[in-house]
Amino acid sequence: EARRLAAWDGHERIVLGTDTGRGLRAIVAIHDSRLGPALGGTRVWPHPTLEAALTDALRLSRGMTYKAAIAGVPFGGGKAVIMADPARGKTPAMLDAYAEMLAQLQDSYVTAEDVGLTLADADYLKARTPNVVGTTAGGSGNPSPVTAHGVFLGLCAAVRHRLQRGDLSGLRVAVQGLGAVGGALCERLHAAGAELVVADIDPARTRAVATRLGARAADPQTVLSAAVDVAAPCALGAVLSRATIPALRAKVVAGAANNQLAERDDAAALRERGILYAPDFVLNAGGLINVAAELAPGGCDRAAVLERLATIPQVLSEIFRRAERTGRPTNRIAHAMAEERLRAAAPRTARR
Ligand code: NAI
Repeated sequence: EARRLAAWDGHERIVLGTDTGRGLRAIVAIHDSRLGPALGGTRVWPHPTLEAALTDALRLSRGMTYKAAIAGVPFGGGKAVIMADPARGKTPAMLDAYAEMLAQLQDSYVTAEDVGLTLADADYLKARTPNVVGTTAGGSGNPSPVTAHGVFLGLCAAVRHRLQRGDLSGLRVAVQGLGAVGGALCERLHAAGAELVVADIDPARTRAVATRLGARAADPQTVLSAAVDVAAPCALGAVLSRATIPALRAKVVAGAANNQLAERDDAAALRERGILYAPDFVLNAGGLINVAAELAPGGCDRAAVLERLATIPQVLSEIFRRAERTGRPTNRIAHAMAEERLRAAAPRTARR
């Protein structure tokens, strides 16, 4: 069944790991390793069915293939999902069993933190198997500040392209989600002179950022349609949809959240409204660039990370130019560019 699903979804390999005694039910999905070993975090989430977990793993691992290809890092796309409640299910025994599963995969899959798997959990796994990155113990640690830096650079490129502005002074930006990435992005935008409208579902977080940065606090559900120049989704996915796009007043959408478009075609709706959409997986690749650097020969080199981050605005500018020339939505162009890089790599090898 797993092999049938893998073929159906274009995946190279799907591994199901079960250890009933130790409470492990895990899926490792390896989508494409033409550019290198599959790299992607492990999500711990109480999916109600195997099918729901599998759908999540397959969608996420495919996304990692495109993100790595467009970011120019020599890795393929993979992702793991452990079916467990992150609050109660992450027992040492379960993590031990998962570490054994990872060890068996050797370097065909390298994992890192994701929703439900903390840096401390990643450290725990790393002590038991080498194919874990982004750890605090000798690894590159928390990727969020690097992600925020990449998003900031990409946002500036989008503003340059759409609004012909080289600086952010007085630019109005709405930020939805003030967590690790959104919070750091706000600091950078504020330092660059932007005027912020901010919202988080955690009111204390909204108040703290609003007070510290002199930002206007808004409602989390409507913040992205505030009267601003740029809307920056930094919370959840699927916030750009047939229902929300007509209400947007920004000219640019550029944020960190994964899978911002509810449907692929929503990018066309943004385009029709004259809104420039900076594809999320191009903009938010900083975290991946950071962990990938750990595996480079010679170890994590900060200068090399910054150099790679600087390619985010360059790639975006190329996407924007091609979109303008062809009249196609930016997300389609970004996918096509990632495909070009994948096709230029070695042919796919099917593994069973
Ligand atoms: P986080 O969990 O630190 O922050 C998310 C924030 O959004 C929280 O403060 C939460 O209260 C808030 N939030 C949730 N629903 C909301 C809503 N409906 N309206 C307003 N606020 C809401 O997560 P993090 O790490 O900052 O990630 C943010 C987004 O960026 C996610 O979509 C994540 O997948 C994506 N991302 C993060 C990367 C990283 O390096 N941390 C890398 C690539 C993507």
